[in-house]
Amino acid sequence: MTAVLLDGKALSEKIVQECKKETKDLNPTLAVIIVGDNPASAVYVRNKERLCEKAGIQSVKIPFSKEATQEEVIHKIEELNNDPAITGFIVQLPVPDHMYVPDIIRAIDPKKDVDGFHAYNLGKMFLSTEFEDLPPATPAGIIRILEEYNIDIEGKEAVVVGHSNIVGKPISTMLLNRNATVTTCHIYTQDLASHTARADILVVATGVPNLITGDMVKKGATVIDVGINRLENGKLVGDVHFESVSKKVGHITPVPGGVGPMTVASLIKNTVHAAQRQIMEHGTQSKEQALKKYE
Ligand code: GUN
Repeated sequence: MTAVLLDGKALSEKIVQECKKETKDLNPTLAVIIVGDNPASAVYVRNKERLCEKAGIQSVKIPFSKEATQEEVIHKIEELNNDPAITGFIVQLPVPDHMYVPDIIRAIDPKKDVDGFHAYNLGKMFLSTEFEDLPPATPAGIIRILEEYNIDIEGKEAVVVGHSNIVGKPISTMLLNRNATVTTCHIYTQDLASHTARADILVVATGVPNLITGDMVKKGATVIDVGINRLENGKLVGDVHFESVSKKVGHITPVPGGVGPMTVASLIKNTVHAAQRQIMEHGTQSKEQALKKYE
């Protein structure tokens, strides 16, 4: 058996086209704060800019050097919070080690938090699907893939490997709120394979290349690989050993072209949603007004 590929790239293009219809009179503007020169972040940010343009969203990059202080970054965040021209913004992670991520995220106005990382938005997501408002982008993208390919969640065994704040914990919660039986594994889990082998839906977000191999998965399972790792030989691989796992499971996301583009598509959806709400609250603005300060 060879698994069906879950094509995140094609689905992300579809979402971008859906968003484009809504951005016509909206003029949403996304700002991206990027601190330092992490090469992976530079690639992600470029992808975000590219898809924003396709969706009719203005994007503004705000770079800081890796020596910038946390106070400088938070000062900029406060400026963006109060700037009506900016309808949503994110701080690209990771930031340099001398900064403390919770302090940075706490400074973001939850209404403009299109990454869905602020405790207010995470809290709403935690309560129930009904209160999801600006959900975290990668987990939201994963749910959308499962929905698009009609993969049932309710009553299924879902196993999440990785317990980060930006993927593992929120996707565990979102699957639980859709009535899966969820197990969250992490670096302290004993006998990882005993858990992964039971999974109908397996989500892997660890940053460990090829961690999950064919002998660790259930026949016919759905496997979502969030990892993007560059090997020393330059090859890009996920956290799942694609060759052995794809022979055994029913559905699998490729790397690249699986979860990555879906994260960006979810960010774009959140950006449109945040802009719509701000326009409802504060009225509209022209594109010229929006960009004046950033030329
Ligand atoms: N770094 C890796 N993934 C993400 C993401 O979804 N958002 C932000 N801001 N940084 C990231």
